[in-house]
Order: sequence, then C-alpha cells, then structure tokens
Amino acid sequence: MGYKIAIDGPAGAGKSTIAKVIAKKLGFIYVDTGAMYRAMALFIMNEGIDPKDAEAINNKCKEADITIRYENGEQIVCLNGENVNSLIRTQQVGNMASLTSPNKEVRKKLVELQQKLAADADVVMDGRDIGTCVLPDAEVKVFLTAGSRVRAERRYKELTAKGETCDIDIIEKEIIERDHQDMTREISPLKAADDATFVDSSYMTIEEVADTIIGMVSCNKEG
Ligand code: DC
Repeated sequence: MGYKIAIDGPAGAGKSTIAKVIAKKLGFIYVDTGAMYRAMALFIMNEGIDPKDAEAINNKCKEADITIRYENGEQIVCLNGENVNSLIRTQQVGNMASLTSPNKEVRKKLVELQQKLAADADVVMDGRDIGTCVLPDAEVKVFLTAGSRVRAERRYKELTAKGETCDIDIIEKEIIERDHQDMTREISPLKAADDATFVDSSYMTIEEVADTIIGMVSCNKEG
C-alpha cells in the first residue's frame, strides 16, 4: 500500500497545478482524474450522443478504452489507443465532461481505473470525489477552493496563453454552472470529505499551497 493524497475541489481551484508540484517534490505519481472524464466526454461527443441521453451514455461508454501511461512524469490519456491530451483541455470538453460524468456506468468504469492506478503506489490524485469515494482511506485529504472570479481569471489566462479567444464573464458563468452541476448530481457529487482540510487558494501562490499540503504529509507521516 502506498501513501495517498486526495485533492478535491471545484473547477479552476488550481488542483492539477498544485498536485503536479507536490508529486514532483515528493516523487509521487500524479493522477489527474478530470482528464479521464474529459477523454470520456470527447468519446461521447465524437459518437454524436446527446449529453442528456443517460441510457445511450451508460451503454456506449463501455466501448471507450481509456488508458493512462506516464512519459517523463506527464500523464498521457489514451482514448481507444490515441493520445488525446491535446484535445481534452478546451472549455467545451470540460463542460461536456461535467454533463456526462454524472452517469453511473461512466463513474464505475473510471473509478475502477483510478483505484487500480493508486493500488500500490504513492499517489497524489485530484478530482471531485477522491476523498469521499475513490480513495476514502487517503492519509491526506484536501478540499481546495478559490473564489469564482479568481478561478475564471486563471482559466482565462490558461486559455488565452494557448491562443483561444474567450470572454472572462462567460468563463465565470460557466464555472458557476459547472460547480452547480458537479455539486448537485446524484452519484458522488463534489463535496468535501468529513475529514478533509479546507484550503482557499484565492490569495496564495502555487508554492504556498503546495507547501501547506506537503506540511500535512510530514505531520501525518510523523504520526
Ligand atoms: O477537473 P476537470 O475540470 O478536468 O474536470 C472536468 C469534469 O469532470 C468536471 O466538471 C466533473 C468531472 N469530474 C468528476 O466528475 N469527477 C472527478 N473525479 C473529476 C472530474
């Protein structure tokens, strides 16, 4: 059994950035579960399935072969054998992932994959249901948040840096909608585990947040 760090929180709170820094500093594996839901959303989009058609999604998702491998510490997500990392980072795929991820069969399939990846490794895993559902026995559980405007600003910078044209007010509106969808769904909604520590990253640097979480690891390891 390895050591597990679970980081949950809403879209744009900085989970993946922080998790990557922690993984590098501690020599842990980083598992980005949102990327798996995004790859599944891409599959469903490519199949032309209506995101509201739960029955079609629950049936069709079984045909998506989603696998993870690591290259120089970077997580590569493959969908039916194709590396889809460069296709899943758009706002459109993120919104689609929020709509398709509530489906039972999608979650069953991806949670199994996540638990398998974490089985014998030291991992830092981020998502929405890691502390509550995927790794309920994680040694460290963090609920990472930030105000919606701050999160929108971060997403805006990320997207414009990649050359995408976007509007910050629309991004903020979509973030609020996405939080609502993720928090109110029936199966494993976004919520903090009872034993999670809240960290608000609104006015903290990446290093400060990473060090705060690493501090919890040291405390925990010392007993
Ligand atoms: O973290 P992200 O933006 O890449 O996640 C995209 C969507 O995937 C998110 O809106 C909800 C879903 N998701 C989930 O349901 N459970 C997870 N553990 C991770 C992501």
